[in-house]
Amino acid sequence: MACSWRDWEQVSFLRRSRPTRTLNRARTLIREMDNEIENRDDGRQRLYSDTLLSHFRNPRNYGSLPSPDIAYEEFNPLCGDRIRIELKISDNRIAAARFVGDGCAISIAAASLLTELILGADIDKGEAISGEELVSSLKSDIKPSRMKCALLPLEAFRSCLRISTASGSERDSK
Ligand code: FES
Repeated sequence: MACSWRDWEQVSFLRRSRPTRTLNRARTLIREMDNEIENRDDGRQRLYSDTLLSHFRNPRNYGSLPSPDIAYEEFNPLCGDRIRIELKISDNRIAAARFVGDGCAISIAAASLLTELILGADIDKGEAISGEELVSSLKSDIKPSRMKCALLPLEAFRSCLRISTASGSERDSK
């Protein structure tokens, strides 16, 4: 299947109309376009870098932790995809980070890269990991219409940090 701007117009239309069936159709279309872009070998401009494709095809840290200290699942209302980030905390540092979910090539690659970026980080400094840093680590031309895909795992991670801060202040006030 050759993807074109007409496909993106159709995705935008389906996203605007929202009901589950149209969300599923939008998601299927995005998967088909991702697949077509991923398998391009005809010299047209490559949209996805080797880094993105490697993390999509072989996601690092995919799967659930046996007993995570914090976990949060973020949902993309534009397509219905979900990414769940799970963390193990030790001495205020991220000792293990994993993810599970159903997403497009960009969101899976971003989740995989994020789990590598945050490993060992001080939980209080996790907010320092910016959207720009995560997007640039994909080394690909992420269009504005797909930015939500790239940032979905980071939103889930930030919610984990908020849970950690809230439970920390609860502990401190006891
Ligand atoms: Fe759903 Fe990318 S298309 S997260």
